[in-house]
Amino acid sequence: MQIKKVGVVGCGLMGHGIVQVAAAQGGFDVVAFEADQGALDKGIARVEKSLAKLAQKSVEKGKMDADKAEAWAAGARARITPSTDKADLADCDLVVEAIVENLDVKKSLFAELGATCKPETILASNTSSFPIAEMGEASGRPERMVGLHFFNPVQLMKLVEVVRTDKTDEDVFAAARGFGESCGKVPVGCKDTPGFVVNRLLVPYMVQALEMLDRGDASKEDIDAAMQFGCGHPMGPITLTDYVGLDTTLFILEGWCERYPNEPAFAVPGILRRHVEAGKLGRKSGEGFFKWDGDKRS
Ligand code: 3HC
Repeated sequence: MQIKKVGVVGCGLMGHGIVQVAAAQGGFDVVAFEADQGALDKGIARVEKSLAKLAQKSVEKGKMDADKAEAWAAGARARITPSTDKADLADCDLVVEAIVENLDVKKSLFAELGATCKPETILASNTSSFPIAEMGEASGRPERMVGLHFFNPVQLMKLVEVVRTDKTDEDVFAAARGFGESCGKVPVGCKDTPGFVVNRLLVPYMVQALEMLDRGDASKEDIDAAMQFGCGHPMGPITLTDYVGLDTTLFILEGWCERYPNEPAFAVPGILRRHVEAGKLGRKSGEGFFKWDGDKRS
């Protein structure tokens, strides 16, 4: 099963990164789909900015000369076809969904993709927390459904979780794993369980950090510094929550609390809900627990 053409539905925080690594590292032809032209333009602009940054870094590190780096970025950009027409996804070998973290919206998208894509198309979701099996059933082709869970920022984080359900075909799982590898990632296989591997461990840790902050046990700066310098984490849990998005973290936790009410590790910290209600969504909105100017935190 050979993947040549890839569709990505959603060109936001995660989707634009998936578009980029598929085109730049993977060398795939990529259809970048967004229903809204404004959102599509914004996503493509982010890809261009990131490609330019990575090209510049390669020159600085002496990995490529300026002409080669420019050609690399231009080549990747040329493999991307921006689209607002779902019909453009029909002949893709793989379609990766990276839209809002809402199961009903995702299920209706997969029903549509199952009806419009060619029969061989593999369907994948970048969901952080929802059951892949339910999306597979909605698509009408559960044996061709996998999870491909990338990490933020997709361009820099080396992992992709490849999630199989009880119905996923062995060949489909292998092809999805191969796709992850082609994109320059380390793929890990896992079953269709809440949070897969990383979020099952990471999100309860973030919850504990937020509860600690709410109780006033330590300041947000000190909680972060503790984990950075005590455990060697690249960023502390409060900054990481800003980075992931407070709304996304809340969606994940609310979904889990509803589905698994007896799991003590899944709880919604009051401080998280209050911040989201106040419109403080993290880096993407300019303020979460910290204030942000682009990548810079203050
Ligand atoms: N494209 C290109 N360049 C980028 C970039 C992007 N998307 N994002 C950042 N960069 C650049 C920066 O601009 C910076 O350039 P500079 O050196 O010229 O200023 C360079 O990359 C390195 O950035 P930093 O200086 O901030 O260096 P760090 O060493 O701190 O690396 C990081 C940044 C990789 C984000 C690191 O802090 C890190 O690993 N943080 C943890 C992130 C993490 O845990 N992510 C997973 C979240 S969980 C998740 O995604 C799952 C979801 O389902 C919830």
